[in-house]
Amino acid sequence: MTTKPEEANGARKERKPRPQGLEDWRQWPNYEAATLGLRNYWYPTVWARDLGDKPQGVKLLGENIMLIREGSKVYALHDRCPHRGVKLSEGKKVFPGTVSCPYHGWTFDVTDGRLCAALPDGPDSPIVGNVSVRSYPTEEALGLVWVFVGDQEPTPLRDQLPEELFTHDFVAAGRITPGRYGNWRFAVENGFDEGHARYLHRDQAFMMFRQMPGWARTKIVASEDGDWLFRVQESVEYESDFPGLGKWPRRKITQVAQRKMTPGEVGKRLDPTIKSLNLPGHISVRLPGLLRVAWTTYLHFEWYVPEDENHHRYVQYAVRFKTGLGDVAFRLRYWTYIRWLFHGKFTGRDAWMVEEMDAPPERLFRPDVSITRWRRLVESAFEPKREQKKPSAAKKP
Ligand code: FES
Ligand code: FE
Repeated sequence: MTTKPEEANGARKERKPRPQGLEDWRQWPNYEAATLGLRNYWYPTVWARDLGDKPQGVKLLGENIMLIREGSKVYALHDRCPHRGVKLSEGKKVFPGTVSCPYHGWTFDVTDGRLCAALPDGPDSPIVGNVSVRSYPTEEALGLVWVFVGDQEPTPLRDQLPEELFTHDFVAAGRITPGRYGNWRFAVENGFDEGHARYLHRDQAFMMFRQMPGWARTKIVASEDGDWLFRVQESVEYESDFPGLGKWPRRKITQVAQRKMTPGEVGKRLDPTIKSLNLPGHISVRLPGLLRVAWTTYLHFEWYVPEDENHHRYVQYAVRFKTGLGDVAFRLRYWTYIRWLFHGKFTGRDAWMVEEMDAPPERLFRPDVSITRWRRLVESAFEPKREQKKPSAAKKP
């Protein structure tokens, strides 16, 4: 993948200084409006293996949605019975191809949401055929159930997913956390945030064998197709003198066995498939809120799926490009420590910050170019040249 440099750390575009405490999000109006997420995208919901003919309820972009499997296909309906507003996901399948509301047994065709029986009103109930609930496009891919939330014709799901997940065999394992506290934008911003790892995650067990830099000079570059933004480190420092304060970070005894994370270092030991992707930086982000982290031997993805103003569904997905024995080895590795130390403890500390964050107002510093570039990426999706993929900010139902 070739890339074009976009903007060095605060180097090219000087923003007009504003009084402290008054920095807000007005310069990214669509982003600011997207409290409930970006419409007209596919969102991952549950593991495909966990969805059977018992309905499940999820919340996406402020909308309650019921998922159900019928044969080899999955379906999604608005999770609200039009009769008295009870959730259809509390109901069950009484007849094949349908779901019945638990209250009075209104029965809906899962393929199109049409009311096909109102059981306690008899087979000739006049309301049949006159009521329906909204249905949503669905897909099953990568072991996940995807729902398209929007008002336009759905774009092909593959257009929105990392290409490497369709061109190579791999084993995947992960964790889905519904109801994670915090607005989805805080979650994406935290994921792509340049500065926090070196401070927040420094002492975590998952980093035990990696020597974390103290600080770095970073630029943000976009992929040629404009879909991804990468954080690219131009230089890193492992220990610096802070005038009047002293050295930071200080080496600890546990760091003896650590190896430095320096630009290019990762490339030497990279898994061959990951290497072949020619990623210019090991952390990248794309719409509508997907982070990719290239570790040495596997890729880690995380989707931040908007639920409501204050919650998102957090989907962590680790990919190792191996089959056969390599597949088994990675599953073992995942279940013995990655799930616990990375998908649990490490990202749990991120969850703490996403929960605590409260902005705007805010006062950004140099490393926050990662955050402002992400916001600009969202804004650019609303520009006319990308009309085909034009999202819209979700409105409160
Ligand atoms: Fe659903 Fe009455 S509320 S059938
Ligand atoms: Fe983090």
